Amino acid sequence: MGHTGIVPTPAIVVSDSLTAFCQDAGMRPDAVDRLLWDEFALVLEDLEATETAEDEDPPRWLAIVGDESGALTAGVDQLLQQRSDNWVAINWQDSFAGRSAVQRHCAPAHQSDRLVFATEPVAAFEDAEFVIGRLPKSLDALDELAGLIAAHARPSVTVLLTGRVKHMTTAMNDVLSRHFAEVQPHLGRQKSRTLEARGPRPTDSARPSYPLTAELDGPFPDGRIAIASHGGVFAGSRLDVGTRELLAHLDDALNPLRSAAHPRVLDLGCGTGLLATTAALLLPQASVIATDDSWAAVHSTVATARRNGLVATISQGLVDGPQPLDSSPGIQALWDDTAASIPDASIDLILCNPPFHQGAAVDTSIAWDFFATASRVLRPEGQMWTVFNRHLPYLPALRRQIGPTTVVHATPKFTIARSERA
Ligand SMILES: C[S@@+](CC[C@H](N)C(=O)[O-])C[C@H]1O[C@@H](n2cnc3c(N)ncnc32)[C@H](O)[C@@H]1O
Repeated sequence: MGHTGIVPTPAIVVSDSLTAFCQDAGMRPDAVDRLLWDEFALVLEDLEATETAEDEDPPRWLAIVGDESGALTAGVDQLLQQRSDNWVAINWQDSFAGRSAVQRHCAPAHQSDRLVFATEPVAAFEDAEFVIGRLPKSLDALDELAGLIAAHARPSVTVLLTGRVKHMTTAMNDVLSRHFAEVQPHLGRQKSRTLEARGPRPTDSARPSYPLTAELDGPFPDGRIAIASHGGVFAGSRLDVGTRELLAHLDDALNPLRSAAHPRVLDLGCGTGLLATTAALLLPQASVIATDDSWAAVHSTVATARRNGLVATISQGLVDGPQPLDSSPGIQALWDDTAASIPDASIDLILCNPPFHQGAAVDTSIAWDFFATASRVLRPEGQMWTVFNRHLPYLPALRRQIGPTTVVHATPKFTIARSERA
């Protein structure tokens, strides 16, 4: 197993010119993008010096992971365009919104098939010679990612994952070492640092595979529920305390829908799907849509639902905007940015535990977007039940955006609010 020394910081090779290129195209590359461009340019130089004509047989796959702004992908594509061999970059990320942003930035420049977008991770890593990108913030997400790369990329794969030093820990080297024989930290630059991994190890069948599964006690119909969680999903295989509070009031939230023939419930920002699954168990005639920006979340939700005996399907957001919904009972998981594909005035009840963090920083902007969406998709008199940390100023926003809002329950830490669409 190897932490085999520290690789020196790369000089600025291409990052100044690629920064200028990206800025002209309206993107704002950061220190992680700049470092990765230079690291990757040096790897390509080494490759040029050592490769033979045979090595150049097309296509050669480079996977780019976790690039939510598009700058990394656009810059790497510039580097590849300058080469005569036939590299294809395949972009993969967990965030639907991030993927759409990269597509927006990169698509006009790419009428060629030099850049493709994967809709699931295995497709991105199959046969890859390089994987470069951003280190996931959570160790579970890194564990799942590294395991998939090791299982599907070429044995000769080089992995370069870069992060902000303040978000990195030595535990990340240990996680990578589970899946790769050589793990080398590079020296940092501008508070960013790359971990390089080579030599994929065989999958360790003694370790649990993703999605991880567990049983949870809590306010569920049988007092227990089965949960499945992909790496990096909110709360992992635990029950978040806010979610627990809302679950305890789910019966009340569903009551007005008991006599409806085809009630439609939306779990907005579904995570592992505990709210959606419990709602579907309590109200079997309901069509429950569970949506999240995170691929890991919607896939965890489907697995959670199925582990609890429910029928669950999965789809992804439609670029063309809202589409008619299916009203069959069970769970429809939807990979989408802020439920953009859900038609106006189509939902009877929304359950929501909105995100208020972006990384370590408090960021309520997504909650505002959630409330605007709720106002759009709720039918008149439809309800939204929201749980949030008591200190957050959501009550006035819910009243303004949705309609009359009452506090159903409050603890020293949480508020549960019921809002009715005016
Ligand atoms: C606080 S978690 C709640 C998860 C789950 N409902 C629960 O209670 O355990 C918020 C969820 O919102 C999701 N999210 C963040 N931004 C989003 C967006 N733009 N569109 C949809 N979901 C988003 C996150 O991925 C996360 O799963």
